[in-house]
Amino acid sequence: MTSLLHLDSSADRPGDSVSRRLTALFADTWRKLYGTAGYRYRDLAADPVPFPAPAYCVLGRRVERQGLVPPSEVAGLVGDADEKREWELTLPLVTELLAADTVLVGVPMYNFSIPASLKAWIDRVTFPGAFTDHQTGESLLRRTRVVVVTARGGAYGPGTPREAFDFQEPYLRAYFGNLGVTEENLCFVHAEMTMADRLPELSRFQSMAADSLAAAQTSVTALATRPVHRPAREPSLS
Ligand SMILES: Cc1cc2nc3c(=O)[nH]c(=O)nc-3n(C[C@H](O)[C@H](O)[C@H](O)COP(=O)(O)O)c2cc1C
Repeated sequence: MTSLLHLDSSADRPGDSVSRRLTALFADTWRKLYGTAGYRYRDLAADPVPFPAPAYCVLGRRVERQGLVPPSEVAGLVGDADEKREWELTLPLVTELLAADTVLVGVPMYNFSIPASLKAWIDRVTFPGAFTDHQTGESLLRRTRVVVVTARGGAYGPGTPREAFDFQEPYLRAYFGNLGVTEENLCFVHAEMTMADRLPELSRFQSMAADSLAAAQTSVTALATRPVHRPAREPSLS
């Protein structure tokens, strides 16, 4: 069964949020093809992931000292009630991410970067060793597709005056790439100039905003119907 983990992080209302509307279009298209059984949704703004507490760091260090520990064995290394609580908050997120063939992330641009609600999920889910195959040392996410859908009030594409202010895509590329998601499986869709119909000083960019939104809608629909790229398996040494 194919599976989709859908994350939204906009603080805005569903009807007003551009990133939420685009991820909903992806999810609706995907569910029409694959049904609802493999679909999982998390609203990181409405149901925030707690920031890591000291016990998360202590448990993480203990696990790291053991080498590569699969998530199923971390509970056996928990030292006290605080660590138990931290792990109980973390394991469901790790399990969901590992189970997903596709991860769909709705990301509004806040102060040139990602919202704190998404960063809280990242900081918690990235538990030491959780995404590494403890037998081969390979990433368990090397066949996972990640589709990032951003909404930005301004424009940050190549050649724009604010190109260098985009700390969303470079950061998320580094983050997911470092986790082992391949370049072919890491897709970005941007809806830009979303503030053009709200701010009078940006009104001259309204047609640019409409074009950007239409292109984003086309891209998310196409991506939702496209199968996940599966890299060929490495030749066996034996
Ligand atoms: C807290 C906050 C910070 C923002 N910072 C930026 C910014 O740095 N650059 C920008 O282009 N737009 C910024 N915006 C505008 C949003 O990126 C824009 O409204 C976008 O559509 C938000 O995504 P959403 O529609 O999915 O909520 C900001 C909006 C908010 C609420």
